[in-house]
Amino acid sequence: GENMLWGGRFTGKSGLDPIMVSYNESIYFDRAFYAEDIKGSIAWARANKNVGNLTEQEFAAIESGFAKVHQEWKDGSFKIIPGVDEDIHTANERRLGEIIGKEIGGKLHTGRSRNEQVATDMRLWLREQLRQIESYLIDFLKVIAARAEQEVDYIFPGYTHLQRAQPVRWSHWMLSYGFQFASDLERLREVIARVNRSPLGCGALAGNPFGIDRVAMAKELGFESLLWNSMGAVADRDFVTETMQWGSMLMTHMSRWAEDLIIYSTSEFHFVRLADAYSTGSSLMPQKKNPDSLELLRGKSGRAFGQMAGLMMTVKGIPSTYNKDLQESVEPMLDHVKTVGDSIQIACGVLSTLKTDPERMLAALDPFMLATDIADYLVRKGVPFRETHHISGKCVALSEQTGTPMDQLTYEQLKGIDSRFNEDVSAIFDYEKSVEMRSAAGGTSKKSVEQQIKVLKEMLA
Ligand code: ARG
Repeated sequence: GENMLWGGRFTGKSGLDPIMVSYNESIYFDRAFYAEDIKGSIAWARANKNVGNLTEQEFAAIESGFAKVHQEWKDGSFKIIPGVDEDIHTANERRLGEIIGKEIGGKLHTGRSRNEQVATDMRLWLREQLRQIESYLIDFLKVIAARAEQEVDYIFPGYTHLQRAQPVRWSHWMLSYGFQFASDLERLREVIARVNRSPLGCGALAGNPFGIDRVAMAKELGFESLLWNSMGAVADRDFVTETMQWGSMLMTHMSRWAEDLIIYSTSEFHFVRLADAYSTGSSLMPQKKNPDSLELLRGKSGRAFGQMAGLMMTVKGIPSTYNKDLQESVEPMLDHVKTVGDSIQIACGVLSTLKTDPERMLAALDPFMLATDIADYLVRKGVPFRETHHISGKCVALSEQTGTPMDQLTYEQLKGIDSRFNEDVSAIFDYEKSVEMRSAAGGTSKKSVEQQIKVLKEMLA
């Protein structure tokens, strides 16, 4: 390189710039797919045996050679050769050749491209991860349903604009998120079905010239169906994008859920108390107990969303079929899946160990939260709602002016505001009654909440 005009960066005519080597290589992250890569290669070899590209003995050698490679990865003895093992595909093939000899090992890649191989590995890996995540999500939803059942009698303030609005059941709040996460579960199941399609046998872009049985390979690998266009199959990272769109939506729900609980756990609210296992202390202030788990759920949602947006930016301008840009889909996928899986488990742990304080919840209720019920009371006496809303507003004003809580205004004071108030109005000042009035489907009455629990549980089956 010395006599090169632009200095010593390049190692020579045939060598790569050392920074280019590390810039290009993916082995240090795509090694995560070692097992999938081996499984895919065995299915590949079997299918090639069936079309006469390999003998029985050659296939047997490949299969047992791969068993050894697999074992080496598993026990940590696999030695990556820096600068040689560019990615998991080249690494596995290189090692196979060392074990069974290059004569046979060199036949494995017949008709195959790394383009189809990496897509196959990623889909297999992602499918298993998403199935695992599905089970975490179901566990979390079961905790929500169980707590909703147990704590159905707790009543607390429902907020809009973070202002006290109407009394609701604590379970009603839990289920409000439960149904968002249940929709995430439905969506996840659809995503898994689209991830679980086989690109194997598509070649670099044009398809396989040896009449390979793609259906048999797909079946062996547990794929549900084939990808039907070879050029599309190697170009496609929609399965990663869609997973991250899914994960971003879930994390958005998670973030809002966490935000509510952060507020509810402050000394000012104190409706809930986080278990020590999900809190941390302050290095300076001995009294502090911080809801770090919830803050991380909120914070990591930004990271998940960024990964999704990043990949969409990466993909949007590249021409069709495989381009190396697509390698940039791997790292965000690995991290996204870990982030989402961990987040659901953390949320599940937080909720199953959360302490609630039903007395503080009750104490936070305010008679003004029954102002709508006062209006509704007059509606039942035949007064048009627009008028009742105004009358109830006058009661609120009188209460504020006199400093008398609304439920302690005298019957005479109310009668003075509107003659249609009767003595039975005092029965309105009852939070539980207010809650029980909301008995239409989806409301906060006990019956409605129990129905919600039933519906939610059915979605988990
Ligand atoms: N490591 C590559 C990736 O993750 C594998 C595909 C390489 N294909 C190619 N034609 N260079 O995308």
